[in-house]
Amino acid sequence: MKKVLSVVGARPQFVKAAMVSRALGATRGIAEVLVHTGQHYDRNMSAVFFRELGVPRPRLNLGIGSAAHGAQTGRMLEALERAMMRERPHRVLVYGDTNSTLAGALAAAKLRIPVAHVEAGLRSFDRSMPEEVNRVAADHVSDLLFAPTSAAVANLRGEGVAARRIMLTGDVMFDAALFYAERAERRSTALARLGLARGHYVLATVHRAGNTDEPRRLAAIFGALARLATECPVLVPVHPRTRAALARAGVRESPGLILVEPVGYLDMVMLEKNARLIATDSGGVQKEAYFHRVPCATLRERTEWVELVRAGWNRLVPPVSAARVHRDLRRMLTDFRRPAAAPGLYGAGDAARRIAAALRAR
Ligand code: UD1
Ligand code: UDP
Repeated sequence: MKKVLSVVGARPQFVKAAMVSRALGATRGIAEVLVHTGQHYDRNMSAVFFRELGVPRPRLNLGIGSAAHGAQTGRMLEALERAMMRERPHRVLVYGDTNSTLAGALAAAKLRIPVAHVEAGLRSFDRSMPEEVNRVAADHVSDLLFAPTSAAVANLRGEGVAARRIMLTGDVMFDAALFYAERAERRSTALARLGLARGHYVLATVHRAGNTDEPRRLAAIFGALARLATECPVLVPVHPRTRAALARAGVRESPGLILVEPVGYLDMVMLEKNARLIATDSGGVQKEAYFHRVPCATLRERTEWVELVRAGWNRLVPPVSAARVHRDLRRMLTDFRRPAAAPGLYGAGDAARRIAAALRAR
């Protein structure tokens, strides 16, 4: 029996792990030990995902919580090392690009436990993003790199990663979108609860440090959303980091601009699917917009998910000023022409199964 220790800690990792843990559970010869670092801990940032998505209860929650990057990552590293020494897994599995990813990968590499990385090879080519540092470091200590897209494979090859270590799997978030679509339709009451009509609102999320911790960029985004909201309702489920930043900046609800607590995944799927436009700086939400064929404005200078921009479904809207962001969002709201084609960019919905099979084989 091969033992795989998976490390999760932040919201998007719970969604990804939901699919991979289910696939691992269905794979003979593998036993998974799930460890939660505790990076995200609010009920609506963590527990809700475990409950709604049926993610197995973690064997261990390290309860690390929030801190500056070095302190948070260092505490995780120490606690994960202890957990790995106790559990003695054959392999460690990490997801995405958070501090939990980096700590998991590094702790394992130092103990000479082979590391597999789900969502390997993504690059923004912007080292000022903490996520970019985390991804590059995690990829280069991993020996099995599960790339969601061919662009990710090309990035890894360009950095000299041997082809035999890379596997193009498709995206586990696409698997999740397919798997939970019907459940979301049945269970979510978000539209009625929030008084939103299908196809008649904008959904926005903002949480990247580069946007929340820069007052001018935060003001550009929320100034634009407030203006847009006078014409079309704008719903923003607000990440806790952003809530704090908005409080510091004195930004509040205004006519049409609805600020709510983070929502669970099933509500989020419904809100995404029925939006007229999505504006976001999230990696996951950009892709989900495409899964549901909703146009997406990415509130950044660049994106790791370049194929979305190439396919014409995603436009980059850098948050330089409220006037510019408002103009660009308004244009997308009124003039967006749906591209004739919607190519299958993220695999066949079987990425998690392929990952589980590879983990068993190696
Ligand atoms: C982290 C990831 C980011 C990912 C995001 C997903 C890093 C460096 N960043 O960013 O890549 O896109 O998660 O959502 O790992 N907070 C709470 N309650 C919580 C969690 C956080 O109040 O449950 C607040 C705390 O004030 C904390 C702040 O949010 O300091 C930021 O949390 P943190 O986990 O450090 O980074 P995120 O911005 O969530
Ligand atoms: N998400 C959610 N509720 C919210 C905001 C996001 O369920 O209020 C989900 C979203 O659908 C996606 C994931 O969280 O599956 C994305 O996480 P996030 O935007 O926090 O991080 P990123 O993908 O940018 O790393």
